[in-house]
Amino acid sequence: MNVAVIGIGRIGLPIAVALAARGHSVVGCDIDARRVEFVNQGRNPIPDEAGLADLLLRVVGEGRLRATTDTPAAVAGADVVAFCVAVDVDAEGRADLRPLLAACDAAAPALRPGSLCIFDTTLPVGTTRNVLVPRLAAGGRMPGRDLFVAFSPERLFMGRVLRDLTAYPKVVGGYDAESARRAVAFYRETLGVDIIELPSLEAAELSKLAEGVYRDLNIALANELAQVADRFGIDVMDVIRAANSQPYCHLHIPGTGVGGHCIPVYPRFLMQGEGPSRLAALGRRVNDEMPAYAVERLGATLGGLEGKRIVVLGLAFRPDVAVTAHTNALDLLRELRARGAKVWGHDPLLDREAIEALGFDPAPEPPRGYDAAVVHALHAAYRDLEWGKVAPLVFDARNALEPAVVTAAGAAYIGVGRPLRRP
Ligand SMILES: NC(=O)c1ccc[n+]([C@@H]2O[C@H](COP(=O)([O-])OP(=O)(O)OC[C@H]3O[C@@H](n4cnc5c(N)ncnc54)[C@H](O)[C@@H]3O)[C@@H](O)[C@H]2O)c1
Repeated sequence: MNVAVIGIGRIGLPIAVALAARGHSVVGCDIDARRVEFVNQGRNPIPDEAGLADLLLRVVGEGRLRATTDTPAAVAGADVVAFCVAVDVDAEGRADLRPLLAACDAAAPALRPGSLCIFDTTLPVGTTRNVLVPRLAAGGRMPGRDLFVAFSPERLFMGRVLRDLTAYPKVVGGYDAESARRAVAFYRETLGVDIIELPSLEAAELSKLAEGVYRDLNIALANELAQVADRFGIDVMDVIRAANSQPYCHLHIPGTGVGGHCIPVYPRFLMQGEGPSRLAALGRRVNDEMPAYAVERLGATLGGLEGKRIVVLGLAFRPDVAVTAHTNALDLLRELRARGAKVWGHDPLLDREAIEALGFDPAPEPPRGYDAAVVHALHAAYRDLEWGKVAPLVFDARNALEPAVVTAAGAAYIGVGRPLRRP
């Protein structure tokens, strides 16, 4: 089968590689000419994505995957077109569809009769039918007659995308019954995964938002419980472990907010007039307030933050991926500086320029001699740090550390909803 994948970023490229590795002929399209050149040389632009480098080199070498900036030419040769262009929120919190619309406009006039277009990108409910299908149809094809459209969200975890592609069922919703049938057949043939076919595009769109908002609200609840725990000097992690020991309770882990492309973004898609969104909005508010709450607590422990030297460790939005989209490290920086602290940033996965671009002063190697260390993303490289040499106090912004490990290494420990422990 000939497949065009539009948008070969963190998600699109592993998908393109996985399809090519299963014997299909794949063209990856991107507006980023450097990325296209990289891929055509068999080089992997996403080094922290497990297994991608070897597979990419193989499929490019075998001629099964190539990349191009010429989307129309790639689409003209494709039976199936998968759209993996990211949709973020703009400054007002509304879905910014411009990159995806540009991709649709480039593809639409080139679509073959009978081609299947699949949107993988998470979207506000109704976007595929009301916005994207008309955009594709403007190229001359008639939806339901010689153009088939489906929505099938990606349910992948950055860093292990190749594994996750077949780890969970693929959710599919079609523009019409024939579109759904073709999309289901495509995923059965290409990925060989279990499929959950939903009755409409909208049901599939909402299912992905449901996953995201569930996690955001769950974390918001954990964050409120953490604040109660702080008031009573309880360790919230003990409480969560106990509560989760029966099968109806799945509390997530408290922390200083939620970062990344997905969890903080998707609840906003539910807040755009499609229906009730009080909980989605409340969850966002609770989680957005956590950096200020945590920094206040750190300040109270240190006897004020004015002039204090603080290092933030791990600026990525989560451990072991070099991705800083919506990272809470920036919120921590803002809140620390607002209280007069001097702040340095450290991240072994980011170069100096990337750290400066985030607004941090890069911390000299190795990080040593601060008044406090805020552990934002516990990269593997931090696991064996001599904490007492980094700072006398470690604030665990993700409750990712074992307090006893920190105190044994000579530093005091506090977490989110976790009391002060001294070495
Ligand atoms: N990253 C994740 O962990 C994750 C997980 C599940 C689902 N998703 C979904 O996948 C989507 C894509 O995420 P990502 O992390 O791959 O984003 P990304 O930013 O890494 O990749 C998007 C790519 O699209 C390219 N692009 C932008 N406009 C284009 C155009 N007009 N034509 C061709 N290419 C264009 C960009 O240059 C970039 O390479 C997200 O919006 C989300 O809905 C992401």
